[in-house]
Amino acid sequence: MFGRWFSRNGSTNNSHAGPNGGKHLIDLRDVVKTYQSAAGSFTALKGVSLTVDAGEFVAVIGKSGSGKSTLINMITGIDRPTSGEVIVGDTAVHTLSEGQMSVWRGKHLGIIFQFFQLLPTLTVVENVMLPMDFCHTYRPSERRARALALLEQVEMVDQANKLPAAISGGQQQRVAIARALANDPPILVADEPTGNLDSKTAEAVFQLFERLVRAGKTIMMVTHDNDLARRASRSVIVSDGAIVNQYLAKALPSLSLDQLIDVTRQLDHLTYQPGQPIVQRGAEADYFYIITQGNVEVILDQPGGGELIAEVLGEGQYFGELGLLGGGNRRATVRAAHDGGPVEVVALDRNEFHALLAASEGTRADVERVAEERRAANTAA
Ligand SMILES: Nc1ncnc2c1ncn2[C@@H]1O[C@H](COP(=O)(O)OP(=O)(O)OP(=O)(O)O)[C@@H](O)[C@H]1O
Ligand SMILES: [Mg+2]
Repeated sequence: MFGRWFSRNGSTNNSHAGPNGGKHLIDLRDVVKTYQSAAGSFTALKGVSLTVDAGEFVAVIGKSGSGKSTLINMITGIDRPTSGEVIVGDTAVHTLSEGQMSVWRGKHLGIIFQFFQLLPTLTVVENVMLPMDFCHTYRPSERRARALALLEQVEMVDQANKLPAAISGGQQQRVAIARALANDPPILVADEPTGNLDSKTAEAVFQLFERLVRAGKTIMMVTHDNDLARRASRSVIVSDGAIVNQYLAKALPSLSLDQLIDVTRQLDHLTYQPGQPIVQRGAEADYFYIITQGNVEVILDQPGGGELIAEVLGEGQYFGELGLLGGGNRRATVRAAHDGGPVEVVALDRNEFHALLAASEGTRADVERVAEERRAANTAA
């Protein structure tokens, strides 16, 4: 229903090298946010780590008061972490001064709110020109034409000279989206953009987001609408200031939401350098591992000496289950791949692993099936 997107640089795929090594577009590292008020202190984010890659459409879901807006406000720099790091593209957002922050935000992020927040005294087209005026992007003589082109994309160009009060809520949100696109930012962040719209209008706005993702934008959208969230490429679940580990959810898809949240809290985070062993053949089996970054090599000893790389495992895959299920020692060595950066894993100890399998029949069946396939493959090797 909407036309082609108007983009300065065509692709907005953003993969600079920088503090994040060029890997993730958005990288939150152990972010804590504690609010101080007369009533005392309240920790709204309890050490959240999250990565988002270019081109993802991420839905942020969770109960009211769980910390969704606080999380989003860390990325936009609307609010600052008490501790931890927020890296977006090649910018360490948490280190910017207020002045640097607003210019950075204006150029790199499009922000869309539940209540649109158009300036009431400016016309529709003037609202869309505002980010270009503020950041001095595009020549002054080009700005109106670009704003009109963006309004065309959201089917609002015929309302360009009206004041916001003279158009409907759904129309105001479309104008707000055009405004968010004014400086052609790679990332759009939206906090309940459909929360104040009827379902038909919400659907049209959501389709607009889907179209933007296809055109190369990366979108993070807070929503209460689970049907919409399911259509995003990924959901991030916020609960009581923590988020479910995305690799855990990928590795063990049979866990319930409550189980995912519980297990996320139990995870130990470990880092290994290239070539470093994680599990040693012959050692006692003590942990279950899920890879969150990089690759590992599973190594079998050959009868005549030498070693065989039986398998290479990557993000979202797990290892260590064979020894834990067998109750014995490690049968293979697993090490961080030589060619690559550091390998990051999350680990559950033996007791936590067995408690998890006891609590989730589906997970037990999944893990046992994988273990059986691996046993057969190792025997063949
Ligand atoms: N400025 C503040 N001072 C004190 N506490 C705050 C402040 N802002 C948020 N909080 C608290 O932090 C918690 C998380 O708030 P947040 O707005 O992030 O929740 P949310 O998940 O976006 O909820 P909703 O779905 O209702 O928008 C809440 O308990 C809230 O009361
Ligand atoms: Mg909120």
